[in-house]
Amino acid sequence: MIKELQQYIFTELEKLHLPSSPSNLYEPIGYTIALGGKRLRPVLVLLGCELVGGKKEDAIYPALGIELFHNFTLLHDDIMDNAPLRRNKPTVHAKWNANIAILSGDVLFTIASQQIAKAAAPVLAEVLSVYFKVAVDVCEGQQLDMDFESLDNLEIPDYIEMIRLKTAVLLGASLQIGALCGNASKEIAEQLYEIGVELGLAFQLQDDLLDAFGNEETFGKQVGGDIISNKKTWLKLRALEKANASQKQELIKWYSLKEFDAPEKVNAVKQIFTDLDLPNEANNLIRRYYTSALNKLEDLHLTESGKTGILEFTESLKTRVN
Ligand code: IPE
Ligand code: IPE
Ligand code: MG
Ligand code: MG
Ligand code: MG
Repeated sequence: MIKELQQYIFTELEKLHLPSSPSNLYEPIGYTIALGGKRLRPVLVLLGCELVGGKKEDAIYPALGIELFHNFTLLHDDIMDNAPLRRNKPTVHAKWNANIAILSGDVLFTIASQQIAKAAAPVLAEVLSVYFKVAVDVCEGQQLDMDFESLDNLEIPDYIEMIRLKTAVLLGASLQIGALCGNASKEIAEQLYEIGVELGLAFQLQDDLLDAFGNEETFGKQVGGDIISNKKTWLKLRALEKANASQKQELIKWYSLKEFDAPEKVNAVKQIFTDLDLPNEANNLIRRYYTSALNKLEDLHLTESGKTGILEFTESLKTRVN
């Protein structure tokens, strides 16, 4: 079922015709879209619609809009994170330059909004309101993520709030917008938002785990990037909580060095994470979020086909390698 939805999204994305000039504005967008990605958020939009008994065609334009919005955030995020690789290819700012990635991102955000605005008239105002709120939330989360790089004394609840904003709310809004397109009540759509947020927390925790322990070829992004840039991930914060005195001293040393050999820092920090059994602990936490989301979904009166779709979606996320 998920594969079919992905295929539907792929076909509809192909129909988007971008202008060819100025090529430095549009080529990076075509490049980014053609690299694919998992298309998780538009699948959630379509599943949100299906869950409330709607037809997927009723949610397709907002689904495309959400995927384009996500891709816009990636263009800017890769500049902010100084990331060299995305989807196994050079990032836009690395292949072209940062100015191009900023402006292509800006136009991509606008094109995304145009697609969202094609939602059916009776639901349009509510869909736009959810979309604009989530767009602001993501920026807030991204700013916290950047601020956190150089802040000390952060704790795990700070991290959870940051990833809720930068990542989880977009998964929540995807389900919510889909449900609205399927003519759900505002109340049901909000309940689906909360479920999507929980899936999103699990998803970002897993992204952070893969960022340290994934395989670069399958992950498609630089492995160790979060460690290199001192990201306050769950792994780092939990390590500081759990470390003994000498492990703590070593962690603090690596995270405060201004100049270092990147692979050496990544390996040393990962070794401490492993010694503290953090990959297992993180996996347990991720599973708890997924299970909690599925339990909440089970309690709602929604279509069985939609519930099966979310179950399939979640199962595929649990074993993801990218
Ligand atoms: C990457 O999202 C950004 C995060 C929120 C971790 P995805 O992992 O969904 O990226 P693509 O679209 O599949 O490449
Ligand atoms: C990204 O978080 C969240 C957004 C793009 C809004 P990350 O910085 O962890 O995402 P990746 O790992 O670069 O995909
Ligand atoms: Mg980032
Ligand atoms: Mg990033
Ligand atoms: Mg990441």
